Amino acid sequence: MNMYSIIEKKKRGQSLHWDEIAYFIKGVTDGSIPDYQTSALLMAICLKGLDEREIFALTAEMAGSGEIVSLRDLPGVKTDKHSTGGVGDKTTLICAPLAAACGVTVAKMSGRGLGHTGGTVDKLESIPGFKTDLSRAEFTAAVRKNGIAVAGQSGELAPADKKLYALRDVTATVDSLGLIASSIMSKKLASGADAILLDVKTGAGAFMKDVKSALALAAEMIKIGLISGKNTAAVITDMDTPLGRNIGNALEVREAMEVLAGGGPEDLKSTCIELAGGMIWLAGLAESEDMGCEMAQKALSSGAGMEKFRAMVSAQGGDLAAFEALPKAAKTGVIPAGQDGFIAAMNAEAVGLAACAAGAGREKKEDEIDPLAGIILRKKPGEAVKKGETVAEIYASNDEKLARAQEIFAAAVKYSAAPPALRPHILARGSIKGVTWFIEAEDAGIQ
Ligand code: URA
Repeated sequence: MNMYSIIEKKKRGQSLHWDEIAYFIKGVTDGSIPDYQTSALLMAICLKGLDEREIFALTAEMAGSGEIVSLRDLPGVKTDKHSTGGVGDKTTLICAPLAAACGVTVAKMSGRGLGHTGGTVDKLESIPGFKTDLSRAEFTAAVRKNGIAVAGQSGELAPADKKLYALRDVTATVDSLGLIASSIMSKKLASGADAILLDVKTGAGAFMKDVKSALALAAEMIKIGLISGKNTAAVITDMDTPLGRNIGNALEVREAMEVLAGGGPEDLKSTCIELAGGMIWLAGLAESEDMGCEMAQKALSSGAGMEKFRAMVSAQGGDLAAFEALPKAAKTGVIPAGQDGFIAAMNAEAVGLAACAAGAGREKKEDEIDPLAGIILRKKPGEAVKKGETVAEIYASNDEKLARAQEIFAAAVKYSAAPPALRPHILARGSIKGVTWFIEAEDAGIQ
């Protein structure tokens, strides 16, 4: 067996056998397959796809490429939540503490930014002192103490995915259903959670652009989870427009804290209540998703969620006083409205790319990010604007980055004379019980 013939086979659209996938993953893990051959296979997979059997094999082999964590000695139903990636998606920082405040054991491993989307680990590391590379003993101790810890994916956990994830990020091979499903589920299966809530994003800023393909991704991941003995469900949420108003690492932590303090934007808040409610239900602490949402809302209103967030930050060495004192990014600029009227659309992918250009994300895997860089949206779709009014503020590391971010952002905004029709933020719930739609099936492109 050799990589050349495996690449050739996939290029022709044929199905790979389990042992070919195992050979590939073993070679990625031990470094014997060079990046150029791995990248070629990833591109062939992107173009020709993977069937269900190949997705299962890839998931199992990547999960087995490193340690399979056991969280058995921790109390409760260990419940994880994972987003397929979005712009302004700081939901983990809010829904995880809310769920923990309601008694869910949250022992969560998160990733870094990928493509135009941000990652929870990068966001948390914008808090001075916050440690995401916890040893297993530190992680377990933090979960025992507070019922919550959020750590980075360690080198030993699904290391094949870690290498593939970094390569996909720089070879335009992120947006493949099979690669996304196997990447996410391999980490979830290896990270020892008993229950998994998937936040599958759809829209311009998501890897899954339409609701139908988001549902297909959700169904694939739910199947992998259930077959592997994990209680798995999904929520399909909107990512046409960035979530909330802040994009960029420190800016997003700030906005998450505003929500936990009882304020913050409505779209972000309602998405987090839905996700926390789903986690509480999956953990068996509520009879339905709706009852879970009620519990999450109470934890938000009482301040219990904020208390959990603070406890988590302190247990992981973070200094919130130093965070509050962080300066602004080196350079700031604004985007003025091009005309009177309404914001009709704000393409989340373009906004994510603008934030990346400002310094908030990586364009190459070895790039350093600037925790202070990002964007604050002063206007969002549906809101009225006057020509020249500020639509967004851009925070960048230097003048060159600022100018690039401004140029990309300006092209992301569409205006209209009348208020646009906006869809809800939560589009559907999917689980072993079936699919519950919050939009018309016709609008979802399902009929
Ligand atoms: N998140 C992941 O963990 N993997 C992907 O491939 C995409 C989003």
